[in-house]
Amino acid sequence: MELIWILSILLFFSSAATAAPVTSSNSFHDNFVVSWAPNNVKFLGANGEALQLILDQSTGAGFASKESYLFGNIDMQIKLVPGDSAGTVTAYYLSSDGAQHDELDFEFLGNLSGQPYVLQTNVFSAGVGGREQRITLWFDPTQNFHTYSVNWSAKRVVFLVDGVPIRVFSNNEAAGVPFLRRQPMRVFSSIWNGDSWATRGGLVKIDWAHAPFVASYRNFHVANACRAATPAAAATCVRSASNHISASGGAAPTFDRRKLAWVKRTFMVYNYCTDSARYHPAPAECTREF
Ligand SMILES: *[C@@H]1O[C@H](CO)[C@@H](O)[C@H](O)[C@H]1NC(C)=O
Ligand SMILES: *[C@@H]1O[C@H](CO)[C@@H](O)[C@H](O)[C@H]1NC(C)=O
Repeated sequence: MELIWILSILLFFSSAATAAPVTSSNSFHDNFVVSWAPNNVKFLGANGEALQLILDQSTGAGFASKESYLFGNIDMQIKLVPGDSAGTVTAYYLSSDGAQHDELDFEFLGNLSGQPYVLQTNVFSAGVGGREQRITLWFDPTQNFHTYSVNWSAKRVVFLVDGVPIRVFSNNEAAGVPFLRRQPMRVFSSIWNGDSWATRGGLVKIDWAHAPFVASYRNFHVANACRAATPAAAATCVRSASNHISASGGAAPTFDRRKLAWVKRTFMVYNYCTDSARYHPAPAECTREF
């Protein structure tokens, strides 16, 4: 009896100190902390099953996951700022810490009413980014929730929108391009004033008469990831991943090449790989891009 008591006290303190890993839950309280402007972050539903980030003239807002993840399928449903969202940026991304950080970005660039949002994606590996691609979407992302996903393995990252692949970043370590496989990343989102650049290169400014600007989130879901709530657990993820990679090569997520080609052909408005004014020659991974 006494032993159980002592054990439970120990467990309580160790879990309080390390923020014990949460099991699969779609509660934003369980998975996330507010990282910026608590007054502009609203948890909705009895258990915080949904959340809103609010941009007004005083501030933007943001949240960050409690855990970090190595590999896996990471989904979030987002409904973007409706109406005149010009100048606003809603960023949803995965990132590790430190100078040589890895990062995978979805950045939604707002627009005037009736004009399309642009979705910019970017990939940082070992601290190097500058890999922007931009597409418009085949639906209005402000009318309903849509699912934005990352399918991440040691072989390849696939960005997906409603299950449709919009971008693939493959492991090109053989060509000297660092790949994202040693640093667990946390999930972040924020909404902010990007009107110095976001809409038509900064020409269209935020119209504060239309504030507050609200982005909504629900159904956060993580599968097949190594989840870590502490730096020690993150290090264990990295060790077990390298064992796994050397043993099996790591499973690569499959994706529908025809659909990816359709997205690129129909919706792509910018690709760093073809921006020869900026990169000449094109970065090494571009020659092997799908
Ligand atoms: C906004 O809409 C215009 C007109 O369709 C388009 O040219 C532009 O790329 C859109 N997006 C941004 C971020 O400016
Ligand atoms: C994402 O990866 C998982 C396996 O890791 C696979 O089952 C699923 O089909 C992938 N999704 C897409 C749309 O490629």
